[in-house]
Amino acid sequence: MNVLVIGGGGREHTLCWKIKQSKDCNQLFAAPGNAGTALCATNLPIEVNDFEGIKNAVLTNSIQMVVVGPEDPLVNGIHDFFLNDPQLSSVGVIGPQKEAATLEGSKAYAKEFMMRHNIPTAAYAEFTSETITEGEVFLEQSNSPYVLKADGLAAGKGVLIIEDLATAKKELREMLLESKFGAASSKVVIEEFLAGIELSCFVLTDGTSYLTLPMAKDYKRIGEGDTGLNTGGMGAISPVPFVTKEFKDKIETQIIKPTIEGLKKDRLPYKGFVFIGLIKVGNEPKVIEYNVRLGDPETEVVIPRIKNDFLAVLQAINDERLNEVELEIDSAVAATVVAVSGGYPEGYEKGKIITGLELHKEKMVFHAGTKQKGTSIETSGGRVLAVTSFGKDHRHAVKESYETLSKIDFQGINYRKDIGFDL
Ligand code: AMP
Ligand code: GLY
Repeated sequence: MNVLVIGGGGREHTLCWKIKQSKDCNQLFAAPGNAGTALCATNLPIEVNDFEGIKNAVLTNSIQMVVVGPEDPLVNGIHDFFLNDPQLSSVGVIGPQKEAATLEGSKAYAKEFMMRHNIPTAAYAEFTSETITEGEVFLEQSNSPYVLKADGLAAGKGVLIIEDLATAKKELREMLLESKFGAASSKVVIEEFLAGIELSCFVLTDGTSYLTLPMAKDYKRIGEGDTGLNTGGMGAISPVPFVTKEFKDKIETQIIKPTIEGLKKDRLPYKGFVFIGLIKVGNEPKVIEYNVRLGDPETEVVIPRIKNDFLAVLQAINDERLNEVELEIDSAVAATVVAVSGGYPEGYEKGKIITGLELHKEKMVFHAGTKQKGTSIETSGGRVLAVTSFGKDHRHAVKESYETLSKIDFQGINYRKDIGFDL
């Protein structure tokens, strides 16, 4: 079958790399893709929210399955767009419909879902400009640190964790009255602060059955020792050593099962990935957030550990027979280290030539912000490459990735030298 992967980051390169290995994959396309997806797929110059452009490409290239990488097109209803178009309705789309995608698109919606289905999460309240006075009183009655979340999508920047009350009130006013995060902060969720260690859990579902993918941990801060600004992700490891069998069972019974059951009870059709951002508080798992897609850079460690023909798994989701699939997971530890542009996550330059890539054709060097320019490959984003390796433990895996990275270069290259330091 012909397959289209929507998106152009490290997650999408990894998905293309994996899907291309499938015996059922005929032609593979990526939109818009990057210089890495171009190695295993045909890039189409179409943006992820250009549904008409995607429709044309699907019809022109006889595409039978579309795998949606990022959240934006899902929250904007790409799956519904396909279902509602007679020319597209038979094309498989991996990713939930608009209503269920609201689990990522609105924090308040996700919190209400968790409350309704008894899924453990931080206590919270929601406020708008009309209830700002109540919001301030709520902050006065809460304990520091204060967690303020813009309700809508804010490109990963909409969560503020603030120590002092006066600043928290000021930020609340800016979010609600001055559109600090645009329309995304016209509603704000204020949440109890949870102290613990975070991990990412990915679930595949066809709406009825589900399969849990290997757990992963990502490293979000730019600086070593988890310091400095938040980024899109500087590295990841899978599996997560502190997830014991007992803790995994708790995640399954207290969180995953009620989530899938909740989708069914609420009549939310869901074919795709559920990304549950978890935090381990004491010995208990709690949900920090839902995303309706795979994580990046977690994908770069989770997907390579799956031994199954991945397109066959996606087809099973589409055909609602995921119950027939058994996952086979590589027991080796996977680590990925993300090389970023100098200056990122603040201002950085693009267009730097990347050297050394040709030395690593056999390695899992996944491209994120890269672009083909003539005969060379240049940087085109903040996160540039994610280098994945396997090892008998995370130290060996990470070491292998550093070895590979030592032979890759571009002006300003930066990566954390301590991925996995806390495990
Ligand atoms: P989110 O966009 O909801 O994932 O939040 C971004 C980050 O903020 C999370 O990955 C956590 O590190 C942190 N965070 C969010 N909610 C809480 C909370 N209730 N307590 C502590 N940290 C939080
Ligand atoms: N790595 C976190 C995310 O993809 O949102």
